[in-house]
Amino acid sequence: MRTARLMTAAASAAVLTLGLAACGDGGDGDGGTTGDDMAGGEQVEVFTWWAAGSEKAGLDALVGVFEEQHPDIQFINGAVAGGAGSAAKDLLQSRLQANDPPDTFQAHAGAELQDYIDAAQIEDVSGLYDEFGLTEAFPPDLIDLLTSDGAIYSVPSNIHRANVVWASPSVLEEAGLDPAAEYADLDAWFEALDAVEETGKTPLSIAAPWTQVHMLETVLLAGLGAEGYNGLWDGSTDWEGAEVTAALEDFEKLMGYTNTDRDGLDWPDAIQQVIDGEAGFNVMGDWAEAAFQEAGATSPDDYVYFPVPGTDGTFDFLADSFTLPVGAPDPAGARAWLETVGSADGQVAFNMAKGAIPARTDADTSDFSEYQQTAVESFASDTIVPSLAHGAATPVAMLNTITDATSKFTAGATDLATFQSELAAATM
Ligand code: GAL
Repeated sequence: MRTARLMTAAASAAVLTLGLAACGDGGDGDGGTTGDDMAGGEQVEVFTWWAAGSEKAGLDALVGVFEEQHPDIQFINGAVAGGAGSAAKDLLQSRLQANDPPDTFQAHAGAELQDYIDAAQIEDVSGLYDEFGLTEAFPPDLIDLLTSDGAIYSVPSNIHRANVVWASPSVLEEAGLDPAAEYADLDAWFEALDAVEETGKTPLSIAAPWTQVHMLETVLLAGLGAEGYNGLWDGSTDWEGAEVTAALEDFEKLMGYTNTDRDGLDWPDAIQQVIDGEAGFNVMGDWAEAAFQEAGATSPDDYVYFPVPGTDGTFDFLADSFTLPVGAPDPAGARAWLETVGSADGQVAFNMAKGAIPARTDADTSDFSEYQQTAVESFASDTIVPSLAHGAATPVAMLNTITDATSKFTAGATDLATFQSELAAATM
């Protein structure tokens, strides 16, 4: 059985509350929301940002299982385009504030979920965990991240890894590099990036600011190590310190290898440059695996992958999960969706198509791709840390401030010292 060892301060606090989860009742005295409480059952509006390409293919696979399991309930696709929820999260916030919630929405396990819990926008679904037998199905530390004050607020659909480099073998060969090479640290990788630069190809493709924050988190992880990186989120690592300065210098250097049209692109465009042999490398979460698969690319001929140099042995983690919003128009429809999301069949179908691995520890992954097998293995043995860009490490408001500071820096509007102090201020 796979066990996750999440190194977060929240995790140890949550462990203390986990024992209470079994008797937590979300305040209504009946063990949280259960199927008996729920009206409706005609339809379910599912709000995600899986609107196109390989992400939509993942959602479609999940919907296929939903339609088999719940043929009488109509699925309504409420997806809003924009990688990492860059447009969806704002729209969701306005809908929640206007008391116009969808029946269920996608949210990341960890600090992002806590935002919705604190604002009393989502229901305790621990009753459904009992009903569907989910408590044993997920790694205990993942349940900790979904738990608050003894209640559980969502059902996870997957585990994604953020600290992965994807590369084009043809571009690397053209630069005289061995596509099978891995790089011990960022300095070794800089040499390879220099070699690609000489060919006239883009060494490192990247897209809009959220993808830059995504790369930034992996560079902080490379520079500070798992413990130092975790300390950024619990206050034990000094944002103003010399180690962070050095990591930001590395980030600045990496950005110097990227395409200048980046701000107008989203992640699939940047991955496409690797698929098309226009760019050498790209740092992206393993939803990129699904994009390579969708393009008919096979590894190692058409693409290769490795942990971001300096982060080997660490699994930079995030999990999408689905909620039951307070005031959902069709809670029984949402309950049915959550049942499919948590089911072994739903998790296998969805994750095969999404590039992720199931959150359930008992799902059969034998048909998963070679990359996904490496993720299963790493998740079981690596040190696990929470993703910044994908809601595991910080609340949405803090991430937005970090993204603004990053975008100013990469656009040349601030210098490194200002960037560092803006990051420090954002995380106070
Ligand atoms: C993440 C999400 C992933 C993937 C990615 C790119 O935030 O957790 O499932 O969709 O964004 O859009």
